[in-house]
Amino acid sequence: MEEKSNLFLLSLIFLLAVHGGAGGRRTTGNGSNPSNPNLNNAYIALQAWKAAIKDDPKGILNSWVGSNVCSYKGVFCADSIVVGIDLNHGGLEGILVKELSLLKDMSLLHLNSNRFSGTIPYTLNDLFALTELDLSNNQFSGSFPTITLQIPNLVYLDLRFNLFSGPIPDFVFNKNLDAILLNNNNFEGQIPQNLANSPASVINLANNKLTGDIPISFGYSSPGLKEILFLNNQLTGCIPQGIGLWSDLQVFDASFNSLMGHLPDSVSCLEDIEVLNVAHNKLSGELPELVCELKSLLNLSVAYNFFSGFSQECAKLYGRNVDFDFALNCIPGREMQRPEPECDMIPGGSLSCLRIPSLKSISCGALLRSLNSSNP
Ligand SMILES: *[C@@H]1O[C@H](CO)[C@@H](O)[C@H](O)[C@H]1NC(C)=O
Ligand SMILES: *[C@@H]1O[C@H](CO)[C@@H](O)[C@H](O)[C@H]1NC(C)=O
Ligand SMILES: *[C@@H]1O[C@H](CO)[C@@H](O)[C@H](O)[C@H]1NC(C)=O
Repeated sequence: MEEKSNLFLLSLIFLLAVHGGAGGRRTTGNGSNPSNPNLNNAYIALQAWKAAIKDDPKGILNSWVGSNVCSYKGVFCADSIVVGIDLNHGGLEGILVKELSLLKDMSLLHLNSNRFSGTIPYTLNDLFALTELDLSNNQFSGSFPTITLQIPNLVYLDLRFNLFSGPIPDFVFNKNLDAILLNNNNFEGQIPQNLANSPASVINLANNKLTGDIPISFGYSSPGLKEILFLNNQLTGCIPQGIGLWSDLQVFDASFNSLMGHLPDSVSCLEDIEVLNVAHNKLSGELPELVCELKSLLNLSVAYNFFSGFSQECAKLYGRNVDFDFALNCIPGREMQRPEPECDMIPGGSLSCLRIPSLKSISCGALLRSLNSSNP
């Protein structure tokens, strides 16, 4: 989240540079602002919101008086219009009000680490300028706030660490979002089948209650994905072969689920992968040699599975300074493995995950093409 506030500051400096600096216009004493209808609307919106905030431990809202909204703490103006609100770490308790839709020029709304609760007002789809919405680490609840998907120009959607529940709607992966951060909620049900349609570079679904398979449809995968996190859900089935189509992937974490079967050979097509974590699942078979040859690899964890062996290439990872954790598997002759009886019954041992044999002889490009054409 630190990184994000830096991003916010950079965006803000950019906005200020473009608009030529902040500053309020002359206003009447009673709060209305006849010369600038934008600021007048902002005044109405912010006063309505202030009235809906019950606790303000840091006294932030003490500055929210008078018509010069550009002087309010956490409110950022450019050229006398409100372009951003950053109340991160404010500890504010309250709700969001429908009048926030009057902030037509606001491009950033960052409210992380407060105590806002309730649902997201249905009027927010009017916020045409809004590109970044960070509601993380609050107490919002109810079903997925689909209204956020109607904000026309949103690219950054951060709903992490709230109490949202129910299914994740398909549309989140069709929308033109660059970051989809839904982790640490109570989302349940299956991951929508159109997951791979998303043009996002970061998708975080960790620490929810999602069930079913990891869906990756071939032929549609959008290659820009750099990080995807499924960790700590209740996912089952195989890791799909299609994972190899995410050619820009740097972080893949599906640990703490109930995935079974083999690690697909197509993982070896992930040339940029740095962190590959499938620990705490029920995976089995040999660890594919090509996986251990990946040149960008920094951290490979396959601990707490039922893998039965790994190749010479994998043994070389120590020399390469890669953090390689294979503890508590069923690898003969290695230390820190499961006790023998646990290895007699491999979970999902009969599960058939699509596999392309004798990979060594074919290139990744050919593998992906064959995967692509074998799917409708
Ligand atoms: C504020 O003052 C202006 C001019 O004196 C008046 O037109 C306006 O109605 C007043 N607004 C409020 C909210 O009292
Ligand atoms: C897969 O197929 C789609 C369309 O059928 C094509 O656009 C895409 O380039 C193919 N991907 C690979 C890796 O061959
Ligand atoms: C590698 O990943 C594991 C699992 O996420 C983590 O515990 C460990 O600290 C990581 N190692 C490094 C060097 O980042």
